[in-house]
Amino acid sequence: MIILGIETSCDETAAAVVEDGLTIRSSVVSSQVDLHARFGGVVPEIASRAHLEVINGVIGDALVEAGVEFSDLDAVAATHGPGLAGALLVGVSAAKAIALASRIPYIGVNHLEGHLHAAWLQNPEVELPLAVLLVSGGHTMLVAVRGDADYEVLGHTVDDAAGEAFDKVARLLGLGYPGGPAIDRLATEGDPTAIRFPRPMQGDGLDFSFSGLKTAVLHHVRRDPEYTVADVAASFQAAAVDVLVSKLDAAATAIGARTLVIGGGVAANSALRAGVAALALETGRPALIPPRELCTDNAAMVGATAHWRLRTDGPTGLDDGAIPSLPLPSRSPESRRS
Ligand code: KG4
Ligand code: ZN
Repeated sequence: MIILGIETSCDETAAAVVEDGLTIRSSVVSSQVDLHARFGGVVPEIASRAHLEVINGVIGDALVEAGVEFSDLDAVAATHGPGLAGALLVGVSAAKAIALASRIPYIGVNHLEGHLHAAWLQNPEVELPLAVLLVSGGHTMLVAVRGDADYEVLGHTVDDAAGEAFDKVARLLGLGYPGGPAIDRLATEGDPTAIRFPRPMQGDGLDFSFSGLKTAVLHHVRRDPEYTVADVAASFQAAAVDVLVSKLDAAATAIGARTLVIGGGVAANSALRAGVAALALETGRPALIPPRELCTDNAAMVGATAHWRLRTDGPTGLDDGAIPSLPLPSRSPESRRS
């Protein structure tokens, strides 16, 4: 089963060819970071226009790299939500056009489900249940995965997403956009214990809050104009990672997880990766830490998720559109018991 996956929910235009939901034959990502950098964040109108300009080339490259043609595809998938409406529409429309022209099924994929699937793409033997920490620019949540399409959201952020906090702190430190990778790099030169920033809601349930931490950084740099940027970056990152790792641990304990998993753009963070690897050693629960290119937005996760969704749910109708605020489907404990 060869599936072409397409991802255009935010500021990466991506296409990938995935075989049997597990093997990545190609994965091409064209980033718009340079276009948005001078605005300090993603500008939705610019994002959709840029997707439109490069989408055909990116799809063509993914097919060539995989050594396949349209006629070899068994299905085509695109992220249909959540994300920016205009940006999503570009990928969804491209996928539907290919489905129609090649007479193959179209599958609309939930972007968050894609991030969850990135973990067991190439790793089919993971032991369930999984405790997944999903941390991106738009979302921060803990999810129990007990089987294919069996997800339970255990907790989420009550204000900013973790990636948003990295981006906002980077902006106030003058590090530019996107902020996560910049803080990650600079933190290696700083002292993570230099400033004791708060660890919001640590030890208090499975929800997160990051806006207070961001404000604490703001107050610190206003109070002390002579601050060392690398120390502030390292200390902020240490506080954010402390909270993320301890809540993943609490979630894993609560559900009796056999495996720890991280996903989403912030899962590319070096300190978080090291923290989760250390937690795995400490607790004896193995951690699945996907390669960085499968943590940030990509289309391989879309092609992989589509494989499983097509098998159990069948194709998505061509009259289905983009769904900007699509939630992760969560099965309640009640429905699981019945
Ligand atoms: O999953 P993603 O690529 O897009 C969304 O679905 O949002 O995540 C993007 C987010 C951005 O906020 C970016 O700053 C953050 O992931 N990010 C990082 C790192 N790489 C990307 N945050 C911390 N450290 C990194 N190395
Ligand atoms: Zn994402």
